[in-house]
Amino acid sequence: MTRKRILVTSALPYANGPLHLGHIAGAYLPADIFVRYARLQGDDVLYICGSDEHGVPITVTADREGISPQDVVDRYHAMNKEAFSRLGISFDNYSRTTLPVHHETAAEFFTTLNDKGLLIIRESEQYYSEASGRFLPDRYVEGTCPHCRREGARGDQCDHCGKWLAPGDLVDPVSKIDGSVPTLKKTKHWYLPMGALADEWKTWFDGIEWPENVRNYCLGWYNEGLGDRPITRDLHWGVKVPLPEAEGKVLYVWFDAPIGYVSSTKEWAEKSGDPDKWKEYWCDPATQMVHFIGKDNIVFHAILFPMMLKQMDTYIRPSAIPANEYLTIEGRKISTSQNYAIWLKDYLELFPADPLRYSLAANAPESKDTDFSWKQFQSRNNDELADILGNFINRTITFIHKYFDGRVPPVTDPDADDEAMLARVRESKEEMNELYRTFAVRRAVKAYMDLCRAANKYFNDKEPWKTRKSDPAVCGTTLAVCVAVARALAVLGSPIIPASCRKIAETLGMKPDFIWDDADSGALPAGSPVKTPEILFQKIEDDVIDREIEKLQTLAGGGSARKEASQGAGISIDDFRTIEMRTARVIEAQAVEGADKLLSVTVDIAGTARQIIAGIARSYAPADLIGKQVIVVTNLKPVKIRGHESNGMLLAVKSGESYSLLTTDSNTETGIRVE
Ligand code: MF3
Ligand code: ZN
Repeated sequence: MTRKRILVTSALPYANGPLHLGHIAGAYLPADIFVRYARLQGDDVLYICGSDEHGVPITVTADREGISPQDVVDRYHAMNKEAFSRLGISFDNYSRTTLPVHHETAAEFFTTLNDKGLLIIRESEQYYSEASGRFLPDRYVEGTCPHCRREGARGDQCDHCGKWLAPGDLVDPVSKIDGSVPTLKKTKHWYLPMGALADEWKTWFDGIEWPENVRNYCLGWYNEGLGDRPITRDLHWGVKVPLPEAEGKVLYVWFDAPIGYVSSTKEWAEKSGDPDKWKEYWCDPATQMVHFIGKDNIVFHAILFPMMLKQMDTYIRPSAIPANEYLTIEGRKISTSQNYAIWLKDYLELFPADPLRYSLAANAPESKDTDFSWKQFQSRNNDELADILGNFINRTITFIHKYFDGRVPPVTDPDADDEAMLARVRESKEEMNELYRTFAVRRAVKAYMDLCRAANKYFNDKEPWKTRKSDPAVCGTTLAVCVAVARALAVLGSPIIPASCRKIAETLGMKPDFIWDDADSGALPAGSPVKTPEILFQKIEDDVIDREIEKLQTLAGGGSARKEASQGAGISIDDFRTIEMRTARVIEAQAVEGADKLLSVTVDIAGTARQIIAGIARSYAPADLIGKQVIVVTNLKPVKIRGHESNGMLLAVKSGESYSLLTTDSNTETGIRVE
């Protein structure tokens, strides 16, 4: 069998600030776990990343701190590279988009597309600050999203609903540089006709089984029409547009950044002494390319970049895009501007990498947002890693040292329990193989810990401390089986907790470059020496954790509401659950006679119709409601309003005198519980 060639990328983080746990849980840890697994399998895998050093996020930070953009990226590139490495994220190359190889590669992409006659030059209006005398592309302007009505949407994109925005789209736009209200001014730009490329794209897209979030987002954009998108900007920081008539213009950061994957691969090839080797990864259709990203990056990786790659003719397109949802911290959205985050480098000053890797992987935001809490982290470390995995390894090794002279005893006459334990190892190996392969990190962690539990149960059930006297051969067999299981645990867990598994392997005398199939390659030869055990996982005390929780609350400023909640003044999750809210769709709506504020609304909830009287007549015409997805409180006692039964409540927010109905971010079935 030939080795599979896999190119894995993680989104290039902006070098404009330190990394926090939200970054790690999304695009990096799941990728690293996959890459480590693929390496164990012997695949030819290359893991590529680097700093995204262009774009408005960088220049905004530079302006704010009064330093140059180069200073900003130098500082954070070094900081982030170091933090990744301490967390054990095993990039084969971590590059930077300010390097010449990247500028050349990005310019070549532009030139190729332009020489084909593909790009359209068009004059259009862009945000402009009269006060500062400059254009305000993308994140230089913030305002309210016209689609989801959230504040804090940026000139080019709304992070909340993920929609792409064009100049003029934002409601109440404000300049980030000077707080002024931007005007619109004419300027010339190069556009990629994404609408014209959409049919070919769609055929390609339909041929791949995407995760649900990727499919939904992309089809949403596709159905709305992709249009022509400008790929240049009036800025000085970035890759210069390689045309004499484009003085003062650079490539749009989302045009240049994904090309960073290519230039990082080129840099790697250069360093490895075979400068052309990058082509094996980018230009051979046998290569599988996997982009790990956060969901706000979906459109760029699943639509824009694949279109660019297609137009480059010889390049491959991705075959998988695991796009993670978001991580919240202690039930609250991460906010870097409010300093509400756990910074990776702060974490690493206090604790080793593996408990965080384990904890984030166990709770990876694969298909829905998940929450990180310090208490849960503590419990995963103490009650799972230390008490289950650590305990099993420790008791096995200690026993062998005490009673078998530090050497693996022989297997004699294995009984049904021994066989069952070894069969269990083989099953877990198969199961985890499939889970790792399909990026199902959470379930892989669970399968792993279940195997650790089974191992402890086996040890307990076999009671070697008794058979040691009554039947030493049976005792020896038990311990030999335990060593075989320990070896499997070292192999199977190594993508998740590499440093700890390396220690286990070392203690067992395994070769450091073990492979996946070493997980069940039979018992270690009798007589092999095992080293003395070392503590794998230190328990974490309550006061250490309490301090971190406290820090988060004070860091966040104005965290008093949260403090009260944790001290008992707030409601418990069970209290919250007493209110049952479900998704519903409006199927009928009409005015209520004699009540000019009320509408009688009939909704469908999983096939059952319900009538609700709602005070929203001033905000919605009956016809506008039909088909709308809404959220309904379903366990209120029915009441009569103006003689009409009302069974439930439509959730809405009121601003001034007008109501805006709550709905969900993506289309879901009706009857789904809100939680
Ligand atoms: N810097 C971007 C972000 O943090 C991600 C860039 S991914 C790449 O959202 F593909 F463009 F590199
Ligand atoms: Zn929006």
